[in-house]
Amino acid sequence: MDGNFSSNDISAVVDADRKHVWHHLIQHKPFETGEPRIIVEGKGMLVWDQNGKEHLDAVSGGVWTVNVGYGRESIADVVRDQLAKLNYFAGSAGSIPGALFAEKLLSKMPGMTRCYYANSGSEANEKAFKLVRQIAAKRYGGKKHKILYRDRDYHGTTITALSATGQDERAAQYGPFTPGFVRVPHCLEYRKHEQDGAPAENYGEWAANQIEEVILREGPETVGALCLEPITAGGGVITPPDGYWERVQEICTKYDILLHIDEVVCGVGRTGTWFGYQHYGIKPDMVTMAKGVASGYAAISCLVTTEEVFDMFKDDPSDPMSYFRDISTFGGCTAGPAAALENMRIIEDENLLENTTAMGEYMLDNLHALADKHPIIGQVRGKGLFLGCELVADRTTREPANEKIAQAIVGDCMQQGVIIGATNRSLPGKNNTLCFSPALIATKDDIDNITNAVDAAITRATA
Ligand SMILES: Cc1ncc(COP(=O)(O)O)c(C=O)c1O
Repeated sequence: MDGNFSSNDISAVVDADRKHVWHHLIQHKPFETGEPRIIVEGKGMLVWDQNGKEHLDAVSGGVWTVNVGYGRESIADVVRDQLAKLNYFAGSAGSIPGALFAEKLLSKMPGMTRCYYANSGSEANEKAFKLVRQIAAKRYGGKKHKILYRDRDYHGTTITALSATGQDERAAQYGPFTPGFVRVPHCLEYRKHEQDGAPAENYGEWAANQIEEVILREGPETVGALCLEPITAGGGVITPPDGYWERVQEICTKYDILLHIDEVVCGVGRTGTWFGYQHYGIKPDMVTMAKGVASGYAAISCLVTTEEVFDMFKDDPSDPMSYFRDISTFGGCTAGPAAALENMRIIEDENLLENTTAMGEYMLDNLHALADKHPIIGQVRGKGLFLGCELVADRTTREPANEKIAQAIVGDCMQQGVIIGATNRSLPGKNNTLCFSPALIATKDDIDNITNAVDAAITRATA
């Protein structure tokens, strides 16, 4: 910490926060007596709180966001320069960083050609849903309007994004929801014993075939799109089983269903490739991304499409209703693409994709060693620096561990100065997965420090 804040200043900040700020995703009653946490500064993998306590951040800003780490002056510089030159103009016009970042981004996404800017993951997904609805209206008399989403996946916080959530605790109490969203089963092989008819072998193909069953039940002529996370994040860090994605692609092609991949978490390096779907040879029609696009240095999200999808919106220029009549005010902010360009340069110049793959494997080994030692770890999952440990009460029955244990482990690590995550208010009775997503700059020492803290925390929580 640079020590610019005196303890008097900081206590005034804490006071203002406690009186006036409504924090995200947290019960505030404890703040009537205790202090809310305020993060004051960050550098590399480290952050400092209001008491000057140092923490190693194993979750990139809490929610898989700060991919290139904290304190990147070069990003601050390009954003400053861009803001001084032109901060904003509505997205009906272009901007220099908007054009340059779109070109750079699409060079990493063969087959995709168009980028639509917005400012959050939820919003990018809403844009994709709107495309599907408008295509249905333009081409299919409104019939092919249904959007399929998967059990345990999450696509955002707005009411329509929650209509597409496979996480019941996220959605509970916020309905009624937008009609036309239909759930398909999850593909978590570790929990296949809870799925009727799941086979001992070829689970991936079976799980994909469950999607086809839903399509046939609903009527393929009513289904416009399938929206999936490449690796499910907040629903428990679920890497897809072998054979899954090939079959999903076949099914989409067979029934003329658009494949929308939500890369809000996996996108821009998190799993060791630019995008999560690139591990699986998938050809999406639409891809949405947000968090790591500018590593949280500016708010930006993107909806990327193929030229085929784009072309459907310029087919009849004489019809004033035929183009995509959508706007995102802050999608016109230039700070986002300026920061995103520099973010991508850093990932390239510092070989962070390679580091993510290597450190991800190192961390997987460490977590497997913890699983050998602690029977509470039922399964270790993930790819690159996007990893999870599912905790169980019993390894044989795979009964989920009580979420209070997961929370105790997270709390113990925090005490030790290491910030880890756990699935949180997502799945009833199944908020039992510890989550790890250190910045892509993580070293072996950082990873050892994280897993050593988890080891100590589990030892105490299960004593
Ligand atoms: C997979 C996925 N999609 C979409 C979102 C929503 O993004 P945002 O919070 O930026 O709206 C999230 C947020 O965690 C996410 O994990």
